[in-house]
Amino acid sequence: MEETKLKELLDSLSWPEKIGQLVQLSGDFFHADQLAVGPQKKLGIDQKIVDQVGSVLNVTGAEKTREIQDRYLKKSRHKIPLLFMADIIYGYRTIFPIPLGLGATWNPALIEEAYEQTAEESKAAGAHVTFAPMVDLVRDARWGRSLESTGEDPVLNSAFAKAMVTGLQKDLLNGGGIASCVKHFAAYGAAEGGREYNTVDMSERRLRQDYLPSYKAAVDAGCQLVMTSFNTYDGMPVTGSKFLLEDILRKEWGFDGVIISDYAAIQELIAHGVATDDREATKLAIEATTDIDMKTPCYAKELEPLIEDGEISTELVDRSVYRVLKLKNDLGLFEDPYRGASQEQEECVFLTEEKRHLAKKVSSESVVLLQNKRDVLPLTPNQEKVLLVGPYGDNQELIGLWAVHGKREDVVTIKKGFEHYLDSEHLLYTQGCDMLEDYTFLGEFGATKDQIEQLGLTDAMKEQELSQALTLAKQADTVVLALGEHTMQSGEAGSRTDITLPKIQQDFLQKIAELNKKTVLIVISGRPLVLTKEVELVDGIVQAWFPGTEGGNALADIIFGQTNPTGRLSMSFPYSVGQLPMYYSEFKTGRPLTSPTHKGRFVSKYLDSQNDPLFSFGYGLSYSKVMYTDLTLSSEQMHETLKVSVKVKNISKRTTTETVQLYVQDVTGSVVRPVKELKAFQKVALDADEEKTVYFDLTKEELKFYTKNMTFDAEPGAFIVFVGPNVKDTQEKSFTLL
Ligand code: NOJ
Repeated sequence: MEETKLKELLDSLSWPEKIGQLVQLSGDFFHADQLAVGPQKKLGIDQKIVDQVGSVLNVTGAEKTREIQDRYLKKSRHKIPLLFMADIIYGYRTIFPIPLGLGATWNPALIEEAYEQTAEESKAAGAHVTFAPMVDLVRDARWGRSLESTGEDPVLNSAFAKAMVTGLQKDLLNGGGIASCVKHFAAYGAAEGGREYNTVDMSERRLRQDYLPSYKAAVDAGCQLVMTSFNTYDGMPVTGSKFLLEDILRKEWGFDGVIISDYAAIQELIAHGVATDDREATKLAIEATTDIDMKTPCYAKELEPLIEDGEISTELVDRSVYRVLKLKNDLGLFEDPYRGASQEQEECVFLTEEKRHLAKKVSSESVVLLQNKRDVLPLTPNQEKVLLVGPYGDNQELIGLWAVHGKREDVVTIKKGFEHYLDSEHLLYTQGCDMLEDYTFLGEFGATKDQIEQLGLTDAMKEQELSQALTLAKQADTVVLALGEHTMQSGEAGSRTDITLPKIQQDFLQKIAELNKKTVLIVISGRPLVLTKEVELVDGIVQAWFPGTEGGNALADIIFGQTNPTGRLSMSFPYSVGQLPMYYSEFKTGRPLTSPTHKGRFVSKYLDSQNDPLFSFGYGLSYSKVMYTDLTLSSEQMHETLKVSVKVKNISKRTTTETVQLYVQDVTGSVVRPVKELKAFQKVALDADEEKTVYFDLTKEELKFYTKNMTFDAEPGAFIVFVGPNVKDTQEKSFTLL
């Protein structure tokens, strides 16, 4: 539809019709199931409102969405189609690894492909918008939503934000892809203490320097929507923050797409204590330019009286309605309200061979080999007896919590993967131990007492499993333990203060370790766990996140050496939970700890823990060894750019891909600067014994930061360039910015 026509349409709507466009309700209002993605409250919304709302939350499936759309349009005076928005976070039917695993690929181009495929499946299933990517920077592993983020670094997160938006929205205006809604704007990942929904309070400098870039990258990549976050920033919940939404997002960044509140966030302005009732909450949110109210009665009931009383301008509301109509129009919904969704299309594009293949590739690249003592890995197929044990050994929960549209039955378990490499004589399996010692916390998520009692193993089974595992372990040459967090222990509202493996699994691991066999631990988790004890107890550690539909195959390929692991951490793994929040790009202090073995008192350190993480940002092993030499700068002085080069040599007989990382330190600034900041990275394929020279163009632009007077500038002076395989093991060279 032409713009003038769209404007005419807007003008022809009554106020209730206009306001309806700004309201989003869940499936239960449309005779569909409701996914429990937030607190359940009676909204007091009548059918008249439902018949006019603009969008639906988390209803997907071609059959269902078509049926709802048909029913809705029949009643609609102006035939304005409904928008179907859904949480499609890391795959629709083909599930990729959780985003923290995607971050560990350090491969934005691959992730762009994955999100393009996700969009194809989602579109077939009738979704028009996905609430992705989630690009919140996270530096505190206690936060359960670490799993949804690509990690702790602004440069890396921005690269993934751009890739995900580009992949999802490929060819969007010509009927391809689905619209992307970046979230949760802003700084949601900085909740104090890692406690879900908690306060965020930080300097504007840090906000701009570290937390905003990934959202900005998504906006620059053209994402159509932005979701507000639940947290406050500087005393104001974001959903009512003119500073963040209007001044920064709209005016500074020029974003004119749709801003949607997170689930119930408008009404929660009351609980925050910045509004006394729905009316005040509505006023705050609309004045901050929040366009859509997700799942509260605020806009539906309060916008019209506010307009009538002259408390908010009609233009303000019209602008929001127009944005929603424009999105519908840009998506072509007026021409085809289903946007090509059909059951035939679903059959064609769901979980195809190609998609499984891609999922396996992404999974393989996301796995991080954390430890490989005595070169325990890779194992040789059918040469030794391998015992696979643990609650994740033969478990289809590998897709994790937030794969709400995925199906467990599609998942290849680790055991299935192992069966490609080991015949029944060489593969021994038993579960060995339960997932959790106590499932009562699931009551918080609605499980009844009876349901909880059904979960897990009975005491008798526990005993039997343990003795079976110990018997089999004695017969085996190598024991592979697939352990990890229960899916419900991470994700939204999954904050924890103890981020070690569940106690029952730790005890089990201890008993296996006592047998002195070769041991490999596969860790399934939605966050960096504290693995400090495990490092001592086992030979190999493979961090597998929630690896997705093809997780079992990808892991088996790595364990048996078909694939050389290349994943690198995008979030530091703490040595102890007391170190959190933790991130490599910390500011310099006046009393730095210059040597880890420092014995004096008055330096910035813990008395009872090392300062360093257990595993650093950027870290990850492979089955090859790569040497870095000859770090060279094209000049010791920079005007606008410098060429940085380094030689990397694969000194092993196995092909590999090395992730070469470049960091910078600004030695002296008008304000304190971080000890290191990632500026660039490259993935370099290396054949056996091959050497390559890797080049980076470092620009003055990349040295900019928010200076003392908050200008975004690069200040002349001394800098250090670091290049290496991770943030810790680097070579360095100095230069001066003129
Ligand atoms: C709340 C979550 O914070 C957000 O990520 C999600 O998109 C919405 N619920 C909708 O389900």
